[in-house]
Amino acid sequence: MSIVAGKQTFQSVTAETIIIGVGKHREQMKNWSEFSPFFGETLEAWIRAGEISSDRKKITKMPVATNSNIKRILFVGLGEGKTLTEENLREAFGLVGKELKALKVNDFAVWLDSFVSPTIEEVDVAFLAGEGIPMGFYKVPHYKTTSNEVDTYLDRIELITKGNLEEAVESFEVGQIYAEAVNEARNLVNLPPNMLTPTDLANYAVELAKEYDFEVEILNKAQLEELGMGGILSVNQGSSEEPRLITLKYQAKDKWEDVLAFVGKGVTYDTGGYSLKPREGMVGMKGDMGGAAAVLGAMKIIGETRPKRNVVAVIGATDNMVSGTAFKPDDVITTYSGKTVEVLNTDAEGRLVLGDAVSYAKQQGANYLIDVATLTGGVIIALGMDKTGALTNNEEFFESFMEATIETGEFVWRLPLTESDKKRIRKSDMADLNNSPGRDGHMIFGGGFVGEFAEDTPWIHLDIAGTSEAKAPYDLGPKGATGAMVRTLAAFATKTK
Ligand code: BES
Ligand code: ZN
Ligand code: ZN
Repeated sequence: MSIVAGKQTFQSVTAETIIIGVGKHREQMKNWSEFSPFFGETLEAWIRAGEISSDRKKITKMPVATNSNIKRILFVGLGEGKTLTEENLREAFGLVGKELKALKVNDFAVWLDSFVSPTIEEVDVAFLAGEGIPMGFYKVPHYKTTSNEVDTYLDRIELITKGNLEEAVESFEVGQIYAEAVNEARNLVNLPPNMLTPTDLANYAVELAKEYDFEVEILNKAQLEELGMGGILSVNQGSSEEPRLITLKYQAKDKWEDVLAFVGKGVTYDTGGYSLKPREGMVGMKGDMGGAAAVLGAMKIIGETRPKRNVVAVIGATDNMVSGTAFKPDDVITTYSGKTVEVLNTDAEGRLVLGDAVSYAKQQGANYLIDVATLTGGVIIALGMDKTGALTNNEEFFESFMEATIETGEFVWRLPLTESDKKRIRKSDMADLNNSPGRDGHMIFGGGFVGEFAEDTPWIHLDIAGTSEAKAPYDLGPKGATGAMVRTLAAFATKTK
């Protein structure tokens, strides 16, 4: 979406489709008279008669026969204004995006004031529309040669407001930046694994760095060997694809201090290695780089919006394959930190990759660490598919992060990490740590293992194994990759100093 035009009145709208909110609250009714050129008094009567629903998230499509360009109106039910949350409104706009996609519309107008409620003002409406509509409009790229679908894009938007147009446009544009970064992260996760190798992921990061003037470093296999990164290297051992350690730096302050690090799991395919996944469990493991995608998506937003915060992104990229050279259960490896690990399960590979990436982030000056990973099936058992699981070693840091999740509407729930959990991670006859202490509460062991490498640096672990992919369509997107945590990471970097 490129052009955002602002209009003060309906008479001047040139878009085909107008989006209008219909709340149950009376205040908004008074504006209906604005429609008189098109509808006369009938509109209000239709709403009262229930022809146009004001039920929350109900969309009513109505054709318009006038001598203007307007072909149809999408009425968006908002329910009671006083209970309407920002997340409700974001989701409602997501549904609007889906409707626009189904109608193959590429130009539309949003009447901003019609969505204003007692708790949500017009600038926020503009942001949520800018974010929700393109998220809902997102289409999963496919390779069907028989498809004759016409591609549509949202390329022309008119915002209608009697308020501060400039402010609304700006806010809408920031919303769009967030949505487009989510959609790009979704594309990365949806890509088939033969089309997204660790090298491809690194190339993507280099492109981002060029576009946004980030400092970038890509370490190849020989360089990782030189550094002694036994974690990522052992996972990569069975592969014919080289691993990559990707580092992006965004420096917003004169000094490289108070550095926030985003560390992503970039396993481009997880077979489980010799602790092989069952065939049903393996399908979908192209998405095991969802953490890396979240980090790259957030960096794109940061590149666009340029917050006043130093940020370093570190991504460990490799696949986890089987071959005569692959690592095996019973192997003992030495990580970049110097800590040794007894490998009990080669399918618990993410934590090995992340351990090295976290140590590297610290070495790059990280003062705060957030790792993001599709780390365990355990988080799905514990919290379901729609909640990201978290661990932390620092209450204050975590609380401040939770404020960002409330802003973005991404649900995060913290699990405990106790001394006895840590004891089990450190229990091994052979090494300092073991990578698989057991299946009971294993989301905690997965994240807790990564925490061993964070040591005393304030750290948050986010397990997105459930939230990174949707098994069915939802209000803000189709089935497939969700772009989980892209918006929250960026919002957190933006709101903190
Ligand atoms: N990539 C998987 C976790 C996963 C599961 C992601 C389902 C997305 C959906 C991870 O590497 C893994 O295999 N974890 C194991 C850990 C176990 C061996 C301790 C798991 O969760 O079963
Ligand atoms: Zn695994
Ligand atoms: Zn994995």
